[in-house]
Amino acid sequence: MHDYVIALDVGASKVMAARVCNQGRLEALHQQKTPVCAETGESLTCLAQIAQELMLPNRAPLALGIGVPGTVDIKAGQCWCAPNLHWHRIDVARILTSQLEIPVFLDNDANAAAVAEHRLGAGRDRTHLLVITLGTGIGSGLILGGQLYRGAHGIAGELGHVPVLGNGQVCNCGNRGCLETTFSALALAEQASHTYKRRVRARDLIDWAQDGDAQAMALLRRATSHLTQTLVGVVNLLDLELIVLGGGLASAGEIVRGPIAQTLASRVMPRPGPPIEVRLAECGPQAGVIGAGLIAWDGLLT
Ligand code: BGC
Repeated sequence: MHDYVIALDVGASKVMAARVCNQGRLEALHQQKTPVCAETGESLTCLAQIAQELMLPNRAPLALGIGVPGTVDIKAGQCWCAPNLHWHRIDVARILTSQLEIPVFLDNDANAAAVAEHRLGAGRDRTHLLVITLGTGIGSGLILGGQLYRGAHGIAGELGHVPVLGNGQVCNCGNRGCLETTFSALALAEQASHTYKRRVRARDLIDWAQDGDAQAMALLRRATSHLTQTLVGVVNLLDLELIVLGGGLASAGEIVRGPIAQTLASRVMPRPGPPIEVRLAECGPQAGVIGAGLIAWDGLLT
């Protein structure tokens, strides 16, 4: 029997969990709705239970790696703000360590996805890249010079909270007009429900666009343009070589990737070398859980 860690990728809508070996291979992958309880402590107890159910009877895991959809102080093991879960300054690592009695390594969900895509997925041949997770919220992980870049306080990569509409909707983060209010599963579902005058999920919208529905296509294009505009700025600022599109909305494939690649090719500053590349993620919906596992393995070595 081999050593393993448990990994949890906690999204605003669903949790993925698995046992992860030190190469990032998953066992017993499990998915369920994100537990939303009145008290955050209760939600964490539910997460601890999910982890416990994955533990092998005769061999304890070496650690738990957990990615959460918000800003994280990795040293303190605290989640400062997860806008779509309404978490503020939660001692995630301390609470889970006391319940599970194993080391807990906490990180941002998109950082985890970026680690997975960089080591094992679409970014494995690149050193300066941005991995974007397009889901209920929008997150991103920056790999600069081959290393995950965290910034001064560990919160770098909050792409979803770049303001793109001066007078836009109020975002769950408290700001106004964030990218996430125009292009996220929640925002798209809202826009589509308004257009079609009935309840439409982001998933339906993508299916219809893929079937050639002009209205669905137009909606996706318009939302994508806000993301693209943000990315032109990010690429100019950081001189990236690759953008990786992941998360549920990336399943729209070329409908989203194509226009982003085209616009970036024509709008980023002239530069030497090949144009910026835009690729679809390769680790699939499991990127976050693989990355959370790899982060735990890394943490055990430091
Ligand atoms: C959060 C990010 C997170 C992203 C994806 C955003 O609302 O602020 O930290 O990575 O959602 O879950």
